[in-house]
Amino acid sequence: MMPLMMFVLYIVSQTLICIPSATKALALSSNTDKLALLDLKEKLTNTIPYSLPSWNDSLLFCKWQGVTCTPSYMRVSRPSIGNLTFLEKLNLSNTNLNGEIPREVGHLKRLQVLDLSHNNLKGEIINELSNCSNLQVISFIYNNLTGNVPSWFGSMIQLTQLLLGANNLVGKIPPSLGNLSSLVEISLGRNHLEGTIPYTLGKLTNLKYFLMSSNNISGIVPDSLYNLTNIEDIDLGGNQLYGTIASNIDLVFPNLKVLLIGQNQFTGTFPSSVSNITRLKWLEIVENYFDGSIS
Ligand SMILES: *[C@@H]1O[C@H](CO)[C@@H](O)[C@H](O)[C@H]1NC(C)=O
Ligand SMILES: *[C@@H]1O[C@H](CO)[C@@H](O)[C@H](O)[C@H]1NC(C)=O
Ligand SMILES: *[C@@H]1O[C@H](CO)[C@@H](O)[C@H](O)[C@H]1NC(C)=O
Ligand SMILES: *[C@@H]1O[C@H](CO)[C@@H](O)[C@H](O)[C@H]1NC(C)=O
Ligand SMILES: *[C@@H]1O[C@H](CO)[C@@H](O)[C@H](O)[C@H]1NC(C)=O
Ligand SMILES: *[C@@H]1O[C@H](CO)[C@@H](O)[C@H](O)[C@H]1NC(C)=O
Ligand SMILES: *[C@@H]1O[C@H](CO)[C@@H](O)[C@H](O)[C@H]1NC(C)=O
Ligand SMILES: *[C@@H]1O[C@H](CO)[C@@H](O)[C@H](O)[C@H]1NC(C)=O
Ligand SMILES: *[C@@H]1O[C@H](CO)[C@@H](O)[C@H](O)[C@H]1NC(C)=O
Repeated sequence: MMPLMMFVLYIVSQTLICIPSATKALALSSNTDKLALLDLKEKLTNTIPYSLPSWNDSLLFCKWQGVTCTPSYMRVSRPSIGNLTFLEKLNLSNTNLNGEIPREVGHLKRLQVLDLSHNNLKGEIINELSNCSNLQVISFIYNNLTGNVPSWFGSMIQLTQLLLGANNLVGKIPPSLGNLSSLVEISLGRNHLEGTIPYTLGKLTNLKYFLMSSNNISGIVPDSLYNLTNIEDIDLGGNQLYGTIASNIDLVFPNLKVLLIGQNQFTGTFPSSVSNITRLKWLEIVENYFDGSIS
């Protein structure tokens, strides 16, 4: 019965509504999705007029700025989905958003990329986001988000990039982040984080970018971090870290390009073996308590 009914409705829409072919079959079902997207827009923009001007009726919403639909939705293999499950990428970077992250984002079950960076979003990172288990990229950098880095991020095992830098986040780095075995980039810099670097982060063997500068992170650099042999960029400057740096840094981090550990309380001899790391192009160790010299 169902397919027949849909077929009939499809014919009706085709006959009665004269719209471009790509739009035809979507017309019936897409209105709820469109309204849901407009509802998201309202919350993200705090109803400031003129934000996201391309989100208007002149375009099919799969063509709105920053919206990427699943290919199957574009082909209209399924007439009615609802709840925005067609949305694969939402990239609203640098679009003057100044509301909060809407709870409805938790309905975007197929979302793989959520980039809301370079805006002025307020409020906390909503727990509903934990339901978007297909997310590979989360970027909220350069906003005004508050609250903690939620520990449930550790359950989002598809994540390759978790970028939360340059916000107003507080609290500790959750040890659960060590579960994100696909993670390539973690950015938590320029927040107000405290506590220590969790030992568990030494499990992130795919990590290339470890960005935690300008927080209030204290304690030693855990031994486990020297397992991250793929690392290219370590930025821990401007924290309260102490202890020594491993003397065989050239052997453990052969791919290192950037090492920024200035403005901490490190002691001991800074390892001269660093000069053996051929790709290293940026080294910053000022304002520590190192002794010795580097050749
Ligand atoms: C609607 O979006 C289109 C495509 O981006 C744009 O050219 C047009 O100016 C927008 N209309 C309004 C009223 O903002
Ligand atoms: C959308 O999600 C909400 C909350 O999970 C649910 O109550 C509602 O039934 C869903 N709607 C559709 C069309 O699936
Ligand atoms: C989002 O779009 C901006 C430019 O509009 C781009 O620089 C950025 O890489 C995109 N983000 C992702 C995750 O693709
Ligand atoms: C995640 O989704 C499930 C099922 O739709 C729902 O019961 C649960 O409350 C959601 N969790 C959050 C944190 O929104
Ligand atoms: C960020 O939020 C804080 C309050 O949480 C507020 O004092 C500050 O002015 C905000 N910054 C910007 C740039 O809006
Ligand atoms: C992740 O790691 C934490 C602590 O490191 C652990 O307790 C938790 O069970 C792990 N699993 C998930 C899915 O978060
Ligand atoms: C940084 O953390 C230390 C404790 O480790 C605390 O005494 C100090 O007040 C903190 N500073 C800021 C600016 O939060
Ligand atoms: C990493 O290194 C530490 C000490 O160097 C070692 O005990 C540990 O088994 C290694 N592996 C992980 C996953 O931390
Ligand atoms: C550089 O590596 C070579 C070969 O492993 C080693 O003999 C030498 O001592 C290293 N240089 C420094 C400054 O550690």
